[in-house]
Amino acid sequence: MMRILVLGSGAGGGFPQWNCGCRLCRRAREGDPLAPARTQSSLAVSGDGGKRWVLLNASPDLAVQARANAALHPPKGGRGSPIAAAVLTNADVDHASGLLVLREGHRFAIHATPRVLGVLKANAIFNVVNPALSPRLPITLETESAILDGQGEPTGLFVTPFSVPGKIALWLEDPNLPNFGSVPEDTIGLKIRDQAGKSFFYIPGCAELPPDLARRLTGAELVVFDGTTWTDDEMIAAGFSEKTASRMGHMAMSGPDGTIAAFAPLGVKRRVFVHINNTNPVLAADTPERREAEAQGWEIGFDGMEMTL
Ligand code: MLT
Ligand code: MN
Ligand code: ZN
Repeated sequence: MMRILVLGSGAGGGFPQWNCGCRLCRRAREGDPLAPARTQSSLAVSGDGGKRWVLLNASPDLAVQARANAALHPPKGGRGSPIAAAVLTNADVDHASGLLVLREGHRFAIHATPRVLGVLKANAIFNVVNPALSPRLPITLETESAILDGQGEPTGLFVTPFSVPGKIALWLEDPNLPNFGSVPEDTIGLKIRDQAGKSFFYIPGCAELPPDLARRLTGAELVVFDGTTWTDDEMIAAGFSEKTASRMGHMAMSGPDGTIAAFAPLGVKRRVFVHINNTNPVLAADTPERREAEAQGWEIGFDGMEMTL
């Protein structure tokens, strides 16, 4: 059995975002139960009944997440943590900077593409997570590997990374290069499998759903997917940004080219949105957008949500 825990269902900045006074963020800040706060994007998965957990991305809110989720509490007495490994889908601040939170001499393994491991290596601050205690293990596109813990022991989980449409991390963009200098390893989706053969897909950032990706997801048991925005231009409409969702490497949920429409024919049994931006109206339970997403068979992921496969 696989246990899947949503540690953080918000996009970069979380919800409410610290510097945002919009109506949605104000509702979350005031404790409105219909618009609960969300920390930044991360899942935890266990293939051994909850003894050890593998982080899928490491959010800067990890300290808060590790306190809020009993599954991640240290054992009684002394030091330790059930966090055995982290697998990164990119080098975005919201997905990688949480590694810095794990610097207190804890042994765990970091799995990422050579491209993302190169980013960690090039940024010396990540050396605070001692590589002698936290081996950095390359994963290869389209190749399944065992997810190991910091001792090199198998966690019982396996990962197959695959490239998805998207781009390099915002802070690494080169405006002079096509697609800002992105390469296929910059943004990946993960297929996670356990020893019993159960599997699910985790794709927190995806700019479009081309036919090969649609085929890969067809008939899946569970897909946990990029829910950044409702409309492509919602950050522009709110006056917060000059960028569309697609410019940021994300599909919008709604519309003829949106995620909801693209998934409609795929027969995915369970569809869950995560990485939800603080401008997205589905964040509040009383909006027509939330009702529409749910009517189309989608669940809006929330912090603390647990799924089993
Ligand atoms: C994204 O998902 O587009 C990035 O996390 C943006 C950012 O770095 O804030
Ligand atoms: Mn993000
Ligand atoms: Zn806001």
